[in-house]
Parts: sequence; structure tokens; C-alpha cells
Amino acid sequence: MARFVLAIDQGTTSSRAIVFDEAMRIVGRGQKEFPQIFPQSGWVEHEPEAIWESVTQCIREALARARITLADIAAIGITNQRETVVVWERDTGKAIHNAIVWQDRRTAAFCEKLKGDGLEALFTEKTGLLLDPYFSGTKLSWLLDHVEGAREKAEKGALCFGTIDTYLIWRLTGRKSFVTDATNASRTLLYNIADNQWDEELLKLLNIPAVMLPQVMDCAADFGVTDVAVLGAEVPILGVAGDQQAATIGQACFAPGMVKSTYGTGCFALLNTGTDRVVSKNRLLTTIAYRMDGKTTYALEGSIFIAGAAVQWLRDGLKVIGDAAEAGNLAASADPNQQVYLVPAFTGMGAPWWDPDARGAMFGLTRNSGPAEFACAALEAVCFQTRDLLDAMHKDWQNGHDEMVLRVDGGMAASDWTMQRLADLLNAPVDRPAIIETTALGAAFLAASRAGLWPGMDEFAKAWARDYRFEPVMKEDLRLAKHTGWQDAVRRTLTHF
Ligand code: G3P
Repeated sequence: MARFVLAIDQGTTSSRAIVFDEAMRIVGRGQKEFPQIFPQSGWVEHEPEAIWESVTQCIREALARARITLADIAAIGITNQRETVVVWERDTGKAIHNAIVWQDRRTAAFCEKLKGDGLEALFTEKTGLLLDPYFSGTKLSWLLDHVEGAREKAEKGALCFGTIDTYLIWRLTGRKSFVTDATNASRTLLYNIADNQWDEELLKLLNIPAVMLPQVMDCAADFGVTDVAVLGAEVPILGVAGDQQAATIGQACFAPGMVKSTYGTGCFALLNTGTDRVVSKNRLLTTIAYRMDGKTTYALEGSIFIAGAAVQWLRDGLKVIGDAAEAGNLAASADPNQQVYLVPAFTGMGAPWWDPDARGAMFGLTRNSGPAEFACAALEAVCFQTRDLLDAMHKDWQNGHDEMVLRVDGGMAASDWTMQRLADLLNAPVDRPAIIETTALGAAFLAASRAGLWPGMDEFAKAWARDYRFEPVMKEDLRLAKHTGWQDAVRRTLTHF
């Protein structure tokens, strides 16, 4: 009997597949990077075919490592980079353009125009989002305007729009299922998170034909069955969530007040607010954390665009480290008397600043500043930005939860130095889970629990285990001085302060 679960985690820079057994242990994994395309400053694209290839390749690798075949898999869960837009022809399956990635800023002027028309409040009220190029809606609109003949084809129903989950499911099921889940839909700027449906008024404003949109499902649902001709066996896809929501689930942040922060390419902190659709007064996003059995749980989200990407910059741009794992040690050797700040606005600034035109800057350099101070500044920038998000969350949502423990995951969470500095700069404990592959775990949980292979939410939450708790130890006056220096650096970097 099939008793394994396959999680597909399609991220911004790489795709991963992870096989879990009945006891929620990882028994096989595969990972494949794929090319990042930068056609112009601030533009980021992916080739859909390269994403698909990377996914199938890492599925094969993960199965081989687990020494099983697809027939041994009981259910598949999918999680993905969110907001990234793919449009393809319904008949041929051919994408009409490269995928426009969430980081892409090409619609900044269009967003400004919509804001100028006084529309931001309407979009925020309905979607919980802001008018920023980050989200899918304006990117989709751009594609329909710029690819020849696209709009007419879309209006005739000949084109499909999807975030990456939809695109993968459509291909995995041999073009039979055209679906997404509520969390991915909630990032498009087209989905009404109160009514839980595509919003006709917003579609009209962005000039997007409803006929090209997928059906929106719960996160644990029957999304379709893989086609034998595609993967070699029929396996049900039973769980889908955007990667940050999947991490929230994988961290078992099921109770209101629980908060997690995932350090991938960017950093995304989500605070579970339960059935409260909290409207942020501090430029955070209101989003769907998950939808189970038709019941929506909401979250406040803070999104930072550059986290792990700053470490990549140290490695590939500055070449001061050979491997991402070296960043912590290098930072640890920095001169504590230097206050060097990096504001990593490489693709603008996300929450709570939302400044697409800002670009990165460094402050406080002296003749003694070298690779160690750069590494320290890059890692501290991630910590400071996390603090900005959590401060904004506290202002937006008190609800008696003054005491906060942050659950962390993602690649950077493996760095002890960074996590200790995070606890110090937040002045709050930071919990690192035993399973750091939280995003994949969340997707696997959705699929496995629906398949009856793993327990439900309560049992899963009880099984969540901590690897280590980082307690703050930094002296208060140093923490204050550092934070003041950071705030000053941000002020000097933003274009609209
Ligand atoms: O919103 C973008 C986010 O989903 C991307 O996550 O882990 O690929 O950086 P990641």
C-alpha cells in the first residue's frame, strides 16, 4: 500500500521535492536550481519550461533517494513561490511569455497610476493587499497589454492564467485540472478575501477576463490526479498552499497570536489572527493563512524582498564567501566597534515601507570596514527588517499577546549566529524547529492528513518539536543604539521619506 507523501516546493531560485514517510520523517529529497532572467533593471523572469523541468527532475531524484517509485506515494502536496504569473494557451499548453516573477517591478508606474486614481483603499479593502508591483494582478494586466494578440485570445477563453501551483497542477494532471487554492488566490490582487471569490469589480479595473482564472479550492482538497503519461503513475494531489502559508502550517502556527518567519530568498513573517480579518494601519498585508473545510483563517503578513538574497550577494556579487553557510562565521569576526548598515533595497523595499524605487545603500563605512563588516551588516539587515515587521504587527494587533515567540525556518535559520542576533535585536525568544524544511512539511501535512495518513491539526501541532530556543542576551543600550542606526539608514535610503 502506498504510504509515502511527496511535497513539491517550487521556490524562487530552486525547485525541491521531498518524500516523507508515515512518521513524518524525510526519507528522500531532490533539489534543482533554474535560471533567473533579468531583462531590465528591476525585471525578473523565469522560463515556465525550465521550472517544469526542474520540478520533474527533482521528483525523480527524491524518489530515487527514498528508493521508492511514484506508485508508493499516497498523496502529493504542492507549495510554491507566490504571485509569480504564468499565462499559457489552453489548447497547446504553450506559455505566451516568460513567467513574471513576484520580485519584478515593471508595473510600478501602473500601480502609481491606480493609486493616483484613488483606488488603493478599494483594493486593500477587498484583497488585504496594497497597490505594489509585487502582486500578480498588474503583472497579468501587463502581459495582456504587451503580448501581441493576448487580450483578444484571453477574452475568447483561449488563455489560462495561473500562479505556479496552477501551472504545475495543470501539467501534472495532463491538462485536466485548472485550479488553485485560497492562499495563492489571495495574493493576486483579484481575489476578495472576505467573500472568498474572484472580484468582478477588481477584474474590470485591471481589465482581466474572468474566463482565464482557475477555480479556487480549500488548501486540503481534491486538486486532481497525476496523469500516467506525465509521471508514470496516478497519484492524487490533495494539498496546496503558497510557500509562506505552507510554512505557517508546517510551523503549526494554528492559534491566533502565533507567528513565524521564513528566511528564503526574501523573508516573510505571518501572524495568525484567526477568523479576524485585521486591517493593518501600518502597511502590512492581510492575507489568507489557510482555508480548511470552507473555513478561512487569516494572517497579517510582512514581506521583505531580500533576506537569503543578501547572502547570495555576499557570495556571488562581492565574493567574500564561497558558500552561504560561511556568512555567519564571517559576520562573527566583524569589529564590534564599527556600526556598518546595509539597507538591501536591491529590488525596492517591501513592508512596511513599500518603496519600489528605492535601491540598496551602505552606511557607516570606514577604512577599517572589510568583508566581515559587510557580512555582519547583511545579516543584521535581515534581523532589523524582521523587527520592523514585528513592531508593525504589534501595533496592528495586540489582542493580549504581548509575549511573543518567533518560530523561524528557511535556509538562514540554520545559521546560529544570525538567529542569536535576531533574538538580540528583537529582544524576544526565537524558536528553531527540529524540521527546518517547514514549507515542504506544511504542504505534506495538507496532503497527508487529507489522505488519512497523518493526524489532524491538533495532533500535528503537538508533534511540532523545537531544535533550539535562542534567548536575547544583548545589552539594552547596544540594542537601542543599533536600532536607531538602522532606522536612520532606512530613512536615508527611501525615496519618499
Ligand atoms: O511572495 C513570494 C514568496 O512566496 C517567495 O518565497 O521562499 O521563494 O523566497 P521564496
